[in-house]
Amino acid sequence: MLRTRVCDLLGIEVPIVQAGMASEFTNAELVAAVSEAGGLGVLGCLGRPPSETEAEIRRIRELTDRPFGVNLVAHRIYERTFEACLAARPPVFTFFRGEPEQMAAVVARAHEAGATVIYQVTTVAEAEAALAAGADALIAQGAEAGGHAGPVPLLSILPAVVALAGEHPVLAAGGIVDGPSLAAALCLGASGAWMGTRFLATPESRALPAHKRAIVAAGPGDTVPSGVWDALWDTDWPGVLVRAIRNPLLERWLGREDEIPAARAEIEAGVERAQREDDPAEIDLLAGVGAGRITSIEPAGQLVREIAADAERVLREWGQRVE
Ligand SMILES: Cc1cc2nc3c(=O)[nH]c(=O)nc-3n(C[C@H](O)[C@H](O)[C@H](O)COP(=O)(O)O)c2cc1C
Repeated sequence: MLRTRVCDLLGIEVPIVQAGMASEFTNAELVAAVSEAGGLGVLGCLGRPPSETEAEIRRIRELTDRPFGVNLVAHRIYERTFEACLAARPPVFTFFRGEPEQMAAVVARAHEAGATVIYQVTTVAEAEAALAAGADALIAQGAEAGGHAGPVPLLSILPAVVALAGEHPVLAAGGIVDGPSLAAALCLGASGAWMGTRFLATPESRALPAHKRAIVAAGPGDTVPSGVWDALWDTDWPGVLVRAIRNPLLERWLGREDEIPAARAEIEAGVERAQREDDPAEIDLLAGVGAGRITSIEPAGQLVREIAADAERVLREWGQRVE
């Protein structure tokens, strides 16, 4: 059995955590399936109204009595949704982004609610701030990650964050989709993996069917980080870009982000049509580089078990090859 320090900290069996992804991608069914299989499922609460947040957390508890987490983005926190999370007392809070004062404030409030706190960071400076804020564990996110991702590749950021974190466990994020990539992250000092894209391509995830199909169809090199999606959504995420699968909308606007505000209404109408018609050409196909290695839609619980078993097998096999 693959067990690491993070398993003890979170009360889970295998070191696989499903990344908290915004409300349109995660739901109670996905979270519970991952937790029930021995990993940690995390409900993304960015953009989730308070009443829906309460209902989804209630539903998670109906589906599993295992630990689970919630995710919030500190510089874009919606106070009433945060309050709904705090009142529900989930065992784990995970956070992303924010200035040092915001980081300290959200970590303190989650700790007061009795939760373990994991902070996702993209740079060494952010890791220092998250540790100073009192985070119990960190996620070192590499530039390979899907959605909003930082500038530093995982092979560089992970060992640097591990060195800084000392006794605090570090999860690796960005491009991890299978047993071998989990094993590689463990070799670099990670205590486990925080995986988003792999769990989008599951029957349980709330991603649109066209999004799931695009992940399965993507090859290596088919994702690109850009400012296109934030320009379209009119959202400000300093220091990070959005990694997504290339599609006609992205190809049209790459390098022309400045022109998007003037065309926003027209582009949005196209996106809404595409969402209704499940057309991958004009929707935000957020995904990490690991999409190029995903070839099928698989149940989330099965993925947790298979990835843990494959990572264990890979580590044992390599151990035997060393003389
Ligand atoms: C569709 C999507 C939505 C995301 N939304 C969030 C979010 O709301 N909060 C957050 O902390 N990270 C979010 N992320 C980033 C993940 O936390 C994580 O860093 C990333 O999925 C890891 O890389 P991978 O997708 O290659 O596994 C999102 C990622 C994706 C793919």
